[in-house]
Amino acid sequence: MSPASQAGQPRPALTTTETTRHARIHGIGGYRPERVVTNEEICQRIDSSDEWIRQRSGIIERRLARPDESVIDMSEPAARDAIEMAGIRPEQIGLVLMATVTHPYQTPAAAPLLALRLGIPDPAALDISAACAGYCYGISMATDMVRAGTVDYALVVGVEKLSDFTDFTDRGTAFIFGDGAGAAVVGPAEEPGVGPTVWGSDGENWDKIVQRESWTDLRDTLADGSAGEDRWPAFSMQGQAVFRWAVYSMAPVARKAMAAAGVTAEDLDVFIPHQANMRITDAMVKELKLPADVAVARDIAETGNTSAASIPLAAARMLASGEARSGDLALQFGFGAGLVYAAQVVVLP
Ligand code: COA
Repeated sequence: MSPASQAGQPRPALTTTETTRHARIHGIGGYRPERVVTNEEICQRIDSSDEWIRQRSGIIERRLARPDESVIDMSEPAARDAIEMAGIRPEQIGLVLMATVTHPYQTPAAAPLLALRLGIPDPAALDISAACAGYCYGISMATDMVRAGTVDYALVVGVEKLSDFTDFTDRGTAFIFGDGAGAAVVGPAEEPGVGPTVWGSDGENWDKIVQRESWTDLRDTLADGSAGEDRWPAFSMQGQAVFRWAVYSMAPVARKAMAAAGVTAEDLDVFIPHQANMRITDAMVKELKLPADVAVARDIAETGNTSAASIPLAAARMLASGEARSGDLALQFGFGAGLVYAAQVVVLP
């Protein structure tokens, strides 16, 4: 108890922020590294074929970053494009959320350095570790903060340099991952532009997609001299189990997100699932009974699975190509390591 309340004086009511406004996405941007890596190149190090990879995953090629290109380097152009599309100045951004699982520093987070590069003065800045659901987690958190009046504008980035954490001799993952960045600016709006997020996690399946060794385990193997390149803590995945989980457990989540937003499959213009596997996308389209005129993101063919970056990258491409238009209603949906998931219906900027 404070001395004032002990003395019987009334506690002052706290000043709080605005709580009645809406939020929407004002701008989206994407960045793809220059280097195109074909399935043939991937197959130089694993026993596989272009045909198998295309059939089982839908991936034809992926982009990989230069060795010296960091997640911050990739985020910068994506964020600049999103800020430009939003028509705001960097100074108006009060929060930078960077969804990534491949920033190679345990600490500090990548977000403060990105903010510095972009000339955003003194924002709240943090990274989100929610793998392939990270971007949708970020959109949810940014939306709530804008609506609550905590900030006016938030920058949400999904970025991965998965090539740093891929074992290119592992048949189960070498062909799947790619590098890239996508970004969105969330800010105030007259009408709701982001529906309620349906999200969650399933810690029982924590080990289904996992860094195969912790940093401290690696330290111990370095200390006893047994560490080699094969001990690098790359990501490993129980592909079949993840595939089944995505196909059977995730469609109900998408349906809940539509119901929460008060829309049906017939109202949607665009479907942007995490680009994990073309067969997962096809199964979801079927399961959700999406009408044939709903534009479906199929960016995985040229981009691979870029985890947190996959949804904003696909959205940026669809907007740029005219496949999706400003004002379209899109269901976006991330799921991955954790296991974690998040789905929301949004109005595209
Ligand atoms: N090339 C050729 N053959 C391969 C192979 C490869 N890279 N990897 C596995 N195989 C073989 C297996 O040995 C197996 O052979 P068998 O039938 O003779 O035993 C066969 O192909 C099928 O293996 P399976 O593991 O069942 O493949 P799959 O159809 O499940 O496809 C994935 C593998 C990884 C493409 C698929 O499981 C997947 O996409 N999973 C989900 C990934 C995902 O969603 N991640 C999201 C989170 S980031």
